[in-house]
Amino acid sequence: MVLSRGLIGVKRVSWWYVAVWVALQQIDLGAHGQRMKDNMYTPVNGAHCFRRLNGTHVTGCSCKCSECGRSQSPSNGGSVGVLHLINSKADIDFIVQKHPSPPYAPIVPPALYTRENILRLRDEAGPYVSALVLMNNASGLEQFSQESRCPNQYSGLAAGQQQQRCSVDQAEDSWNPWGSGLLLEDFPFPIFYVAGVAEMEKLLDCYEKFNAHDLENQHQRSLCAIEVKAFMSAAVSTDICMRRSNSYNSLIPATKFCDPLQGKNVYATLFPRPIVPEEQRVEGPERIVLVSTRTDTTTMFDGVGLGAMDSVVPFAVLVAVAHFLSQALPSNDRNVLFLFFNGESYDYIGSQRFVYDLQTGAFPSRGTQTKPISMDNIELMIDLGALDNLTDLHVYHAAPQPMATKVAELLRKINQQFGFGIQAGQPVMTTNLPPVSAQSFLRENITFPAVIVASRPANRFYHSIYDDQENLHYRYGNHSRKYDFTQLEDLDLGDRSDLYGKDSIQMRIRNASTLIGMSIYELLTGRAYGQRNGTNSVLIDEFLHCFLESADCPLFRATVKPDTPHVYPAPPPRYISVHTTLTSDATGWTYRVLGLLLGQKVENATKANCSALHLPYQWMAGYGGAGECRRTTQNMSLALSPAFMNETYDFTSYRYSTWTESTWSEMSARIFLRPSPAHETLTLSIGIVVMVISFVLVFLINSRSDVLFNQGSTSSIP
Ligand SMILES: *[C@@H]1O[C@H](CO)[C@@H](O)[C@H](O)[C@H]1NC(C)=O
Ligand SMILES: *[C@@H]1O[C@H](CO)[C@@H](O)[C@H](O)[C@H]1NC(C)=O
Ligand SMILES: *[C@@H]1O[C@H](CO)[C@@H](O)[C@H](O)[C@H]1NC(C)=O
Ligand SMILES: *[C@@H]1O[C@H](CO)[C@@H](O)[C@H](O)[C@H]1NC(C)=O
Ligand SMILES: *[C@@H]1O[C@H](CO)[C@@H](O)[C@H](O)[C@H]1NC(C)=O
Ligand SMILES: *[C@@H]1O[C@H](CO)[C@@H](O)[C@H](O)[C@H]1NC(C)=O
Ligand SMILES: *[C@@H]1O[C@H](CO)[C@@H](O)[C@H](O)[C@H]1NC(C)=O
Ligand SMILES: *[C@@H]1O[C@H](CO)[C@@H](O)[C@H](O)[C@H]1NC(C)=O
Ligand SMILES: *[C@@H]1O[C@H](CO)[C@@H](O)[C@H](O)[C@H]1NC(C)=O
Ligand SMILES: *[C@@H]1O[C@H](CO)[C@@H](O)[C@H](O)[C@H]1NC(C)=O
Ligand SMILES: *[C@@H]1O[C@H](CO)[C@@H](O)[C@H](O)[C@H]1NC(C)=O
Repeated sequence: MVLSRGLIGVKRVSWWYVAVWVALQQIDLGAHGQRMKDNMYTPVNGAHCFRRLNGTHVTGCSCKCSECGRSQSPSNGGSVGVLHLINSKADIDFIVQKHPSPPYAPIVPPALYTRENILRLRDEAGPYVSALVLMNNASGLEQFSQESRCPNQYSGLAAGQQQQRCSVDQAEDSWNPWGSGLLLEDFPFPIFYVAGVAEMEKLLDCYEKFNAHDLENQHQRSLCAIEVKAFMSAAVSTDICMRRSNSYNSLIPATKFCDPLQGKNVYATLFPRPIVPEEQRVEGPERIVLVSTRTDTTTMFDGVGLGAMDSVVPFAVLVAVAHFLSQALPSNDRNVLFLFFNGESYDYIGSQRFVYDLQTGAFPSRGTQTKPISMDNIELMIDLGALDNLTDLHVYHAAPQPMATKVAELLRKINQQFGFGIQAGQPVMTTNLPPVSAQSFLRENITFPAVIVASRPANRFYHSIYDDQENLHYRYGNHSRKYDFTQLEDLDLGDRSDLYGKDSIQMRIRNASTLIGMSIYELLTGRAYGQRNGTNSVLIDEFLHCFLESADCPLFRATVKPDTPHVYPAPPPRYISVHTTLTSDATGWTYRVLGLLLGQKVENATKANCSALHLPYQWMAGYGGAGECRRTTQNMSLALSPAFMNETYDFTSYRYSTWTESTWSEMSARIFLRPSPAHETLTLSIGIVVMVISFVLVFLINSRSDVLFNQGSTSSIP
């Protein structure tokens, strides 16, 4: 109908009109072709490497600007590369030297994801590589860490020239000897991690079918290719990016190129601190022992990485220690402040901010109605570093520190008494300290009374996607129905191999945390802990289950109101990330777990009683699930680098952490069959022939239109 009326009109219009009509037809064909092409794409699920910036450098990945353009329209193409499986160095040579059909997207198994290979693909094969695919195949993998050998190298204690410090060139004295440092490199192409078995098969099948044979003449046929979209809007450095964001902001409020890494520290005191009227809130002679560790972790890929050994273990130890002290020590003239720092993987964001808050009288926040705490109130800081080998504890300090000797002695003595099977050597005084939060304090004042408890590095998967429950050899025991995890455990029950098997991670954490807990007890009270109770192995088992396997777990359920709906059964992500209006899951759970384990139970209070009391009283399910009221002591403080509090901050000064995360509009990947050049030429030729024919046809119709459309012409015009 429409078509015939169009043809009738042709009779009286000029050639110009005909040309427009033909063009329109062509566009219509084009749109149809696009839709057919879409059917040929197969999406691939995986995780992307993205861009982070510090004061002076860019790290991570982004596709080349020439390929995806500066425009952020989602229809824009991403980086396209022909899949090429790397099984050996020879396959890398092929891409560096032969590359018959560039650009390529090498598929690299983890064993070949080494600094040497990846930098070779970036630097030597740069023009021929447009994306990189990392396969998930951990079988037989001996080591895998993209973190630097010296994590947080530039934000630690400033050591003089002649003093000991961590050096990336000396693996044996470094804190991550297996680190490749790729996390700190800048890649001009996306790196895409494919983990699922079905997703990997999609890629490998397509590669085997189309690309794997007759490599030299690859370019003559259609090849399987991947398109990865991961364009990052930030460039150069945090300094440039923030200034660019701010200058654009005044004109177009929605444009933001990067965001500072930001989260919350969680803290809790062993005993409630008194509420003090505003005018009396000055720093007083309060004596506090600070016990701390970090809770965050990181990897190269967005949303993957459990950080099991690198941070869940010390995190679990500190939670168990805090619970032990709250049960074992009803009162004392010194208070204990437990601190769970966030963002420590990125130049100690959380502890730097905490120190800054202590110095400016901003901790705890005014809303808590308690006295501010300063550095002088802290009599002793015990900081737990990575505990890769829980039977081998070392005590480190940076300046002569009588407390370090005391702590080391206590560890040895109590271990001997209870037979925990832990080695605790003499204290080590060094300026090459492990990468721990205490460095932020010592950096301000080298004589600050900080004692670090850590083990020698033994984690071959530090800050990587493979630092998971397998790396710990953890198997969930699931005994919470039978044993109350909010009570202490009787040490005479032995090593409980009936619950977890021989030499389990649960038992090693139980022993180490009991040892540290008893040592702190004796430091605080001046006498030995008299009972034969230790930290609870079921609590430790449940804690590991929640943070490594599923947040829908008995421990977390005990911390929320009885009728709370179930949560998604995945572990809460612990990468610090950027500002959001909602508190991150991991922070929220840490906060609530401390409420359950450190809060004092209010006997006989009903739900209504508890709600009427407001904070710090909280109503939660409790171990039995029936509901209980606890007077809690925990809260959160901001973990945002002080560098972003200062309008005129010098981003090259190395004073504070300067990490930001780039924004992006879309991250996705899909595979398709990239036509051969011959095929493309053929398609184009056919297109041209069809066009020429249609011109001729229209010309003929036009010249004979009098004959063709004679009858209808008068009646169809109203
Ligand atoms: C930023 O990171 C790079 C790469 O690790 C490092 O060389 C540089 O010193 C860092 N700059 C700042 C200001 O932290
Ligand atoms: C994983 O790697 C091993 C050896 O490196 C190899 O034998 C195995 O076939 C690989 N598995 C997959 C699914 O690629
Ligand atoms: C020590 O453990 C026993 C048995 O589990 C328990 O009855 C007792 O209350 C515990 N003592 C403390 C101080 O928790
Ligand atoms: C842990 O440390 C102990 C004592 O130094 C040592 O005997 C043991 O081999 C270490 N374990 C690992 C897995 O390195
Ligand atoms: C933990 O300590 C107990 C003694 O309380 C000991 O029998 C057991 O072997 C230790 N377990 C591990 C895994 O070290
Ligand atoms: C450093 O810390 C020590 C011990 O806490 C304290 O006596 C000293 O005054 C501090 N020095 C500075 C410069 O703050
Ligand atoms: C733990 O045990 C209970 C039964 O006692 C079972 O219903 C539940 O599925 C178990 N959890 C896991 C994660 O195995
Ligand atoms: C709580 O209630 C029980 C019985 O209902 C009573 O025996 C006990 O004394 C009460 N405790 C407190 C602290 O009121
Ligand atoms: C709880 O509230 C009831 C009535 O509202 C009151 O009689 C009771 O004393 C309260 N209990 C506590 C522990 O505050
Ligand atoms: C926690 O801090 C906030 C302000 O930062 C305050 O409003 C709140 O009352 C505090 N909670 C407790 C239990 O002190
Ligand atoms: C802000 O940074 C500048 C330069 O780094 C410094 O001189 C100044 O003291 C800082 N201001 C504050 C309030 O920290």
